[in-house]
Amino acid sequence: MTRAPEYVAPEYVTYAHMDELHELQRPRSEARGEMNFILISHVKELLFRAVIDDLDTARCALQRDDVADTCLALARATRTQRVLVACWESMNGMSVDEYVAFRDVLNDASGTQSFAYRALEFVMGNRPERQVTAAIRDGHAMLRAELAEPSLYDAVLQYLARQGFPIPVDCVAKPPTQQHESNPLVEDVWLEIYRHPDRHLETHRLAECLLEVAYQFSHWRSTHLLVVERMLGGKNGTAGTDGAPWLRTINEHRFFPELWTFRTRL
Ligand code: HEM
Repeated sequence: MTRAPEYVAPEYVTYAHMDELHELQRPRSEARGEMNFILISHVKELLFRAVIDDLDTARCALQRDDVADTCLALARATRTQRVLVACWESMNGMSVDEYVAFRDVLNDASGTQSFAYRALEFVMGNRPERQVTAAIRDGHAMLRAELAEPSLYDAVLQYLARQGFPIPVDCVAKPPTQQHESNPLVEDVWLEIYRHPDRHLETHRLAECLLEVAYQFSHWRSTHLLVVERMLGGKNGTAGTDGAPWLRTINEHRFFPELWTFRTRL
């Protein structure tokens, strides 16, 4: 962006580095849709970070046994997650021919390489061995730092154990790099909480806030899949996956698994 030599940036611009921010969208083609594609990708990256920040706040509050503050932070995260879902609307303003006009310039760039998205998955508790090994080997500092912490769901299970719920010791005494696997005894605990919400007011409230975070995450994933079908049809992704079928498998994953499965038995 060119500026007159006498230009003096006002405080709004200097405070939040707006000039630098607007320098960052640099399309590689003349195609009409590419600028919006980059803008929305930037917005989403920043919002991933906002959600991570709130989930980290929630985790810290829970480690202090402060459920009220945990729920406040989770509710804030959920608001941002709804904005993240709504961002797909802007991307859908692009027709498939407009997307095809610049797809080549992406080379092998793919959302799978987003460290902020991966950090968000790690915070929530999706830490598959393959991703953990890759992050420790050559990942971004943000990912390595996150893997040194228990995930949000680990912190929830540790909190429930401190409150006297019979959470198996394996679920609370594992290294943070090891992913929690769904456990029927944890499902029993959620079942007890939902059978007697009046006896477990705080944990019931916590569970509802957690489920909303997980729901919004899955909502984002499923809308991404629809956008992918709209833009790619049956084409492969830029990361070399088979595109929509790969994302359909990803869509089956649920965060906080026992919070979904106990419902069958209620
Ligand atoms: C035209 C729009 C888009 C299309 C066609 C598209 C397509 C795809 C495809 C096919 C994959 C599977 C991996 C691969 O082979 O590349 C993928 C993964 C992914 N995309 Fe997109 N994408 C689009 C926009 C976005 C945007 C704007 C974001 C957010 C910044 C995003 C974030 C992701 C993430 C995080 C993954 C990895 C998911 C995971 O590892 O679980 N995508 N995308």
